[in-house]
Amino acid sequence: MMKNQYDIPQMGFGTYDRKGEAGIAAMQVALETGYRHLDTAQDYGTEKEVGHAIKRSGLKRADIFVTTKIATGNLGEGALLPSLRQSLDNLQTDQLDLTLIHWPSPNNAVPLAVYIEQLAEAHALGLTRLIGVSNFTIAMLEQAQALLGELKIANNQVELNPLLQNRKLATYCAGKGISVTCYLPIARGVLGDVPVIAEIAARHGATPEQVALAFEFAKGYIAIPTSSRPDRIRANYLATKLVLSDADIALIETVDRGQRVINPAWGPAWD
Ligand SMILES: NC(=O)c1ccc[n+]([C@@H]2O[C@H](COP(=O)([O-])OP(=O)(O)OC[C@H]3O[C@@H](n4cnc5c(N)ncnc54)[C@H](OP(=O)(O)O)[C@@H]3O)[C@@H](O)[C@H]2O)c1
Repeated sequence: MMKNQYDIPQMGFGTYDRKGEAGIAAMQVALETGYRHLDTAQDYGTEKEVGHAIKRSGLKRADIFVTTKIATGNLGEGALLPSLRQSLDNLQTDQLDLTLIHWPSPNNAVPLAVYIEQLAEAHALGLTRLIGVSNFTIAMLEQAQALLGELKIANNQVELNPLLQNRKLATYCAGKGISVTCYLPIARGVLGDVPVIAEIAARHGATPEQVALAFEFAKGYIAIPTSSRPDRIRANYLATKLVLSDADIALIETVDRGQRVINPAWGPAWD
């Protein structure tokens, strides 16, 4: 399994919508297939499912990288730590591998310093091995890192796929040693309609989704695709074996449309 500088497996399994017994079953397929990284969030209602899937897999907790994200409602003074303890309880574990701020507080309703300082405290208490953020802009990353001093922001999770390559932000993160996790890494299955991607996929005997994931891995990113279907969970995983040429990568770079799917009115002013 390919890992980055923080020991984060580049291939992860997203758990949005993977609820209940069907959700646990999908996660079990993922773990049997070789995924060793599960991405959940307080808001997804899938933390308990992740806990069950890990227990049932028979794998050691230490062999699976687990991320959760703090919900917007838990950013206020005194709220973050109890919410994270509840997440640990849901996950049946003592420590997260990575804890992210899911979204910057809309309209700065809770000042950034309030939740970044609580995140640092969670790290100091050993509740999480790494800390990071999600949906943060360059300006917000700068502000957060200045508050944290020596404690590194290890990760920024953002929407990123061939149709939204987020180059300015990704370049900034690379320069600062902040790893990038791509959400919607397979653009929810629409990439087969992009001729350049379809052509590269056909040439490699691969799926368009595998091409997107291989592109993201080649860039050094982490990707967390999800599916409810065992065949797709397994097929997506095989992207870890697909090697694209420099020419393929240059071609994929031409399909960027800045096409953002997750774009709430209360979201930040994107880079
Ligand atoms: N930080 C954030 O704010 C944020 C926001 C959104 C998502 N996320 C995280 O990112 C993860 C992935 O995002 P996402 O689930 O929205 O998008 P995605 O992984 O790009 O796409 C998942 C969708 O594509 C379909 N799919 C999966 N494999 C496929 C394949 N090989 N061919 C065709 N279709 C395929 C799935 O449907 P089937 O189930 O029918 O296969 C599912 O509806 C989430 O699970 C979550 O963990 C984070």
